[in-house]
Amino acid sequence: MNAAQINGYGDKDVVQVTTDAPKPSPAAGQVLVEVQATGVNPFDITVREGRARQMAELSFPATLGGDFAGTVAELGPDVSGFEVGQAVYGQASPLSGQGSFAEFTPVKTDQLATKPASVDFVSAAALPLVSSSAYQALVDHMNLQAGQKILIHGGAGGIGSTAIQLAKHLGAYVATTARADEANFVKKLGADEVIDYESQDFSELLKDYDAVYDTVGGETNAKSYTILKPGGALVSMVAQPDEEKVKQHQIKYTAQLTHVTTERLTRIAELVDSGVLKVKVDKVFPLDQAVAALEYLKTGHPRGKVVIRVKGDGS
Ligand SMILES: NC(=O)c1ccc[n+]([C@@H]2O[C@H](COP(=O)([O-])OP(=O)(O)OC[C@H]3O[C@@H](n4cnc5c(N)ncnc54)[C@H](OP(=O)(O)O)[C@@H]3O)[C@@H](O)[C@H]2O)c1
Repeated sequence: MNAAQINGYGDKDVVQVTTDAPKPSPAAGQVLVEVQATGVNPFDITVREGRARQMAELSFPATLGGDFAGTVAELGPDVSGFEVGQAVYGQASPLSGQGSFAEFTPVKTDQLATKPASVDFVSAAALPLVSSSAYQALVDHMNLQAGQKILIHGGAGGIGSTAIQLAKHLGAYVATTARADEANFVKKLGADEVIDYESQDFSELLKDYDAVYDTVGGETNAKSYTILKPGGALVSMVAQPDEEKVKQHQIKYTAQLTHVTTERLTRIAELVDSGVLKVKVDKVFPLDQAVAALEYLKTGHPRGKVVIRVKGDGS
């Protein structure tokens, strides 16, 4: 089968698109998905570069990729609740070496759900990790309520562009950080206030916020504590807490590890099908340009998501 694989850890040179990768088989509790499209995430670059080795060491060649949308091709042993031909979306294991940048990928049944009916496979493939991340942060960790104020860092990115829409749906006031030329994009998503992270310092402009959602880390994370009111919530996708500052500002800090679950995917599909969440796909690449897709995510400042089309026209 066609697959984008790595033959070692490194930069773009280690990625090869092959036509003769062996077709995987589903293990117990897995289905084999015929992939139509696969979303690209920063974690795919982390895996390629070997920065996820402490989580799992790959054997090579290893197929990259996590997010996917496609159809169930085969049921593994002990699987119920899914049927062959069903349109699904979810997350394959990017650390299994049998990821979703391929025509077929094995997926645990608790990490997939029925695909939202109102969008095509390309759009559905853009959703799983970023929308599960935003949902887990805003709903499960922050319990964000109508009338509360949230700052979302990186509003034009994959997670940020989803989180803005979800926060507005929950009735919050939304400030976001983004580059100046992304201001219109994030406002259209629903942001009430946009701070240009290159020329403005959000920590001097905002105070008494209920929540900060950090998708950036570093100095951005370090400065975020001061804008929260006591009892406020800081959820970071990238940084561990500074315990001293957590105590000093009396906030609740969560260093989130996202779990893409059937429950979250089902809820997200409902939000997409009811028109609450609009999928923002910036650019679509064919599978044989997987190297370019990863480079575009890393250096191209995409608005929303980058997706790889594996089959046909992805519709
Ligand atoms: N912990 C977990 O389980 C988990 C799960 C998913 C993702 N993540 C991590 O979460 C992070 C975000 O993921 P993503 O998919 O949203 O990535 P993404 O699509 O690359 O978005 C990141 C956004 O941050 C913006 N940005 C960069 N520097 C900034 C700054 N100083 N202030 C404000 N915004 C800034 C970027 O804008 P420019 O275009 O201007 O650079 C980009 O729009 C990644 O590091 C990813 O690895 C963690």
